[in-house]
Amino acid sequence: MYYPWLDVPVLTAPMLIAIIALLHVFVSYYAVGGGLLLALENDRSHRDGDVEYRAYLKKHTRFFVTLTLTYGAVTGVGIWFFIGLASPLATEVLIKTFVFGWAIEWCFFLLEIVSGLAFYFFWDKFSPRVSSFVGWTYAFSAWISLVLITGITSFMLNSGGLVADWESTGSFWHAFLNVQLAPQTIARTGCAFMLSSFYFLLHASLFAKNPSVRAKVTRHMRFPAFLGVFLLACGVVGWFFFLPESSLATLERASATNIFSGLFVAIIAAIVLVLVVGPVARPNETSAGVGLALALLGIAAVSVSEFVREAVRKPYIVNRVVYSNQIMRGDVKRMRKEGLLYTGVWTNWLLDELQQKEEYQELDISSERYLNRSSNHVVRVTSGLEEKEDQKNDDAAPQPPNTTSDGADASLSYVEQTSALAQYSSGGAASFAPFATPQQRTNNDFSSQALNVGVDYQQAASSEPQNLSSSQPLVQPNIQVNHVVTASNLLDDAGSDVTDIGQLSESVDALVASDLDEETNADILEAEQREQPTKLSVKELDVGLHGPIAYGNPDLLSLNEEDRLTLGRAVFMHHCNCCHAEKMGYSAISPLLAGRTVESIKELALHLNHVHYYMPPWAGTEVEATLLAEFLDTIKPEYPANVFQELKPKQKKNNIEKEQGTQEADEASSQDEVVSNGAAVGENASSGLSNEF
Ligand code: HEC
Repeated sequence: MYYPWLDVPVLTAPMLIAIIALLHVFVSYYAVGGGLLLALENDRSHRDGDVEYRAYLKKHTRFFVTLTLTYGAVTGVGIWFFIGLASPLATEVLIKTFVFGWAIEWCFFLLEIVSGLAFYFFWDKFSPRVSSFVGWTYAFSAWISLVLITGITSFMLNSGGLVADWESTGSFWHAFLNVQLAPQTIARTGCAFMLSSFYFLLHASLFAKNPSVRAKVTRHMRFPAFLGVFLLACGVVGWFFFLPESSLATLERASATNIFSGLFVAIIAAIVLVLVVGPVARPNETSAGVGLALALLGIAAVSVSEFVREAVRKPYIVNRVVYSNQIMRGDVKRMRKEGLLYTGVWTNWLLDELQQKEEYQELDISSERYLNRSSNHVVRVTSGLEEKEDQKNDDAAPQPPNTTSDGADASLSYVEQTSALAQYSSGGAASFAPFATPQQRTNNDFSSQALNVGVDYQQAASSEPQNLSSSQPLVQPNIQVNHVVTASNLLDDAGSDVTDIGQLSESVDALVASDLDEETNADILEAEQREQPTKLSVKELDVGLHGPIAYGNPDLLSLNEEDRLTLGRAVFMHHCNCCHAEKMGYSAISPLLAGRTVESIKELALHLNHVHYYMPPWAGTEVEATLLAEFLDTIKPEYPANVFQELKPKQKKNNIEKEQGTQEADEASSQDEVVSNGAAVGENASSGLSNEF
């Protein structure tokens, strides 16, 4: 939380990126695919000596160069502008990992621009060979820039390395050559061919006056169109195959991705159908309608596939490194200890501002006062996990700096020993903190005030939690010590390797089994029965990975209501607003809360990633969860009125029947009937009231 949060009402900040990115790709695919097709057609027209076709191609090149070098370039820069605003931390991490990639990309951009302009402006002056060379130079450099940018977006989805894991090497190439690179490059090359061939068809149908030229374009564009669809399909299959498990689960589980996946298949089928009945069956009659239909279907296919590709990345924005809400995975432990408000640069300013108020002079609100006060003020929830972890790990894996005893040297060795990913994910964010002092960066600890809390925390962990009644321990104490230690070691050793819970429990089981002295099956079985290995629950895994949640600063609950709500909203903005708008808008939180109590909202927040694993883990204290819940309670809607409405008896129908009955009774002379109908009339009168309701 080193950056402020951009508040975009209704839409949410990340959706700004989605919009500008979509506007960009419709043209950037054309910049790549159009370049390839123009180079190809340029060669053909030279070979055939077709003057008329060349005249049309020149026209198309002018349109192409104008569109891609203005609109394409401006929206491309627009993406940079918006990702910097909406996802500053993720952008920073990506720049630090991929700066070399962007440097190469800009070289190719330059080549692309120069060759593209030369291709058009010297259209009639270049000899066929030079013109061909320049055309292919453009096509090649445009395609290489597609590959380079794909390496970065594919890394964000799955940072697993193809050659070696970036996790342990930190190398640019290992990050770039990730498992998603090839499938996504194939899919995007397919999109480029497909969309560009459709734009060609549309452009020719509108601007090529000569029917023979139009027919020529139609015939020439059939192959690239089908090739594009084929490559896109192959790429999507590969993409699916190399999805991280969390993304696969999201794809299956979330209704939006389900619907969009089905929609994608339907759109591709429609594209093939239109291609077959249009350009394939009647190459000489291609109309603007068919061109437009194909272009729109192509744009729809690209939009849908881009949406799904982005949506399944949750809870990460950069796989295993940064969560969607701009929180480093490695910072969660510290944020649960100190609090979200206390670890954020901008939220700290908010706290300082409140501390200035006269009515709060008795309270410790600001970071300075809260973090420095005596430990018995701070009530913490402990799981008991970290105590054992510390004992066991003394001489094992590199430990986070324990600044009380280890001092600066130990911190340094920690920085050196840890892998690239661990640097990102174990407080490594300090190296990204723009406001950290050099000392803080060296210590790999952003907040020097955190040091005191570290001490408090250790003490609190080794003694009885002071206020358990008000705070639910996250882990029940009856977990077997053996497993806890193994699991926490495993988690620490593997660090971020452990991305899914099933895999982790399996590894834990395997480790427990391999620890046994005897090798035979019977012995293992017997030992298993003796030990009764229990799988770690989600809560235990969560605490093992992200640490226990501290109670936090009780003084924050003594603020007046308005200020508590201000803080609650700040927590919401930094923790949830990347995925949920407030009252109305993109995946708005308000409707999701209907019927929940403050207490249940708080519980949900504390177990955010248990509720839906695609939400990031809770990265604050219990007090902050309370503040958040109080704020959310003010924007939550009532239950829809009809849900709990009492069932109306079938009065109307009865009334009619009974009225009819009364008339009949009036006519009848039997004593019995009159009595019974008299009762019925009385009933009608009394139920008339409830009928009005
Ligand atoms: C990475 C994105 C992301 C973040 C961050 C996030 N959520 Fe969610 N949340 C989701 C998605 C996706 C759903 C499913 C939405 C749906 O069902 O339409 C969801 C569902 C919910 C629901 C409905 C759950 C249910 O099953 O009834 C609640 C409540 C909720 N989120 C609260 C929060 C709160 C509070 C925060 C912040 C502390 C938060 N979310 C942060 C993505 C996120």
